[in-house]
Amino acid sequence: MQGLVNSAATGRAADLTVVIPTWNERDNVAPLVRALETALAGLAWEVIFVDDNSRDGTGAAAVALAQSDPRVRCIRRVGRRGLASAVIEGVLASAAPCVAVMDADFQHDEALLPAMLTRLEAGDVDLVVGSRYVEGGSTGNWSAVRLRMSRFAGGLSRLLIGGELSDPMSGFFMVRREAFEAAVPELSALGYKILLDLFASSPRPLRFVELPYTFRERRAGESKLDNLVMVEFVMLLADKLFLGLIPPKFLVYSLIGMVGLGVHAAILVLMQHMAGTSFLSGQATATLGAIVTNFFMNNAVTHREQKLEGAGLVWGLAGFMLICSMGAVANIGIAQLFQAGGADWLLPGLAGAAMGAVWNFAVSARIVWSPKRRSLTSAAATYRLLMERRRAASSAPGKA
Ligand code: GDD
Ligand code: MN
Repeated sequence: MQGLVNSAATGRAADLTVVIPTWNERDNVAPLVRALETALAGLAWEVIFVDDNSRDGTGAAAVALAQSDPRVRCIRRVGRRGLASAVIEGVLASAAPCVAVMDADFQHDEALLPAMLTRLEAGDVDLVVGSRYVEGGSTGNWSAVRLRMSRFAGGLSRLLIGGELSDPMSGFFMVRREAFEAAVPELSALGYKILLDLFASSPRPLRFVELPYTFRERRAGESKLDNLVMVEFVMLLADKLFLGLIPPKFLVYSLIGMVGLGVHAAILVLMQHMAGTSFLSGQATATLGAIVTNFFMNNAVTHREQKLEGAGLVWGLAGFMLICSMGAVANIGIAQLFQAGGADWLLPGLAGAAMGAVWNFAVSARIVWSPKRRSLTSAAATYRLLMERRRAASSAPGKA
């Protein structure tokens, strides 16, 4: 009978939207909707899954539920990845005054939702955060390392947003939709830390309370958090620090470029002491070494969401080398242009190098690590189709 009080049955719009980003969570979708049904009995709620075209069929599982339950919807994003951006799109698809965000894996306690809603509807706060660190909350059984990392990241974040929030890393919160919408234009939408992003981006200070809950074990599937979340986190902090003026990926790319420089120097020094090597071959080998190092590091870190594997890796490396050679030509050209007339070498030289770096970054991001990258076979299939259409059109009768 629960269906009678839901928004669809009463024709009433939902008071609460629960936004759930998913990436390979097929087996959690249906149990989660049942758990929400129990926890939110008597309330007008809906759930929006935001799935990034998971390979395991999570999107299809959510759509199947939606076919028999109008409270369930699924936004499906193709060629995109990212928890924060998924959350943003989910919230923007809601028309409810209050929106909750939680994981699909039962780690966040859905039984807390009604209390969060009551607190939010009281009207004196914009945001209710589910916290593991206030009195009564707990991280469950986390390893000491994870606990320390989480605390450390929390401490860093508090430097950015001010001191009172105990759990800025939380992925479990409920917000007044208007308050969220006001911050959307300023959001970095990077990585995992949407709550921190929200606090740092809101045009006016967010009034919030924290309610305790215990972080549970994940139900099915595995965590998508890996060692690189720290990188994402630092990217988010940097983006806020540089006021969004420099693309965070370019910062990471530049840092990796420094590593490449180190590799270059190491190879040079090493080869100088090898018998029978010329400077030219040393410099060539060092350049190659630096490019290859940069390629693999960028593949693993900067562009991990479009990470190349298998044969793609070979093509990618070839493409990257080609792009970098063109970058070198641009570098020298620009430097020469700036240097013409003046006597100083350093500034024009660095300007050329900077140009080259920007070129390499921008072009390889578009071509080598494009989110819309097509495999050669599908490109060939598209081409064949085009040719067939042209043939059919030219042999069609009555053509002008
Ligand atoms: N659409 C989409 N796209 N969803 C994603 C993506 C993505 O790229 N990556 C992860 N998700 C979904 C997962 O399917 C899950 O529902 C939720 O986002 C959180 O991912 P988990 O893999 O379960 O993360 P976690 O449990 O390790 O981390 C959680 O706790 C942290 C606190 O320590 C998250 O809630 C974090 O936001 C939180 O900071
Ligand atoms: Mn989780």
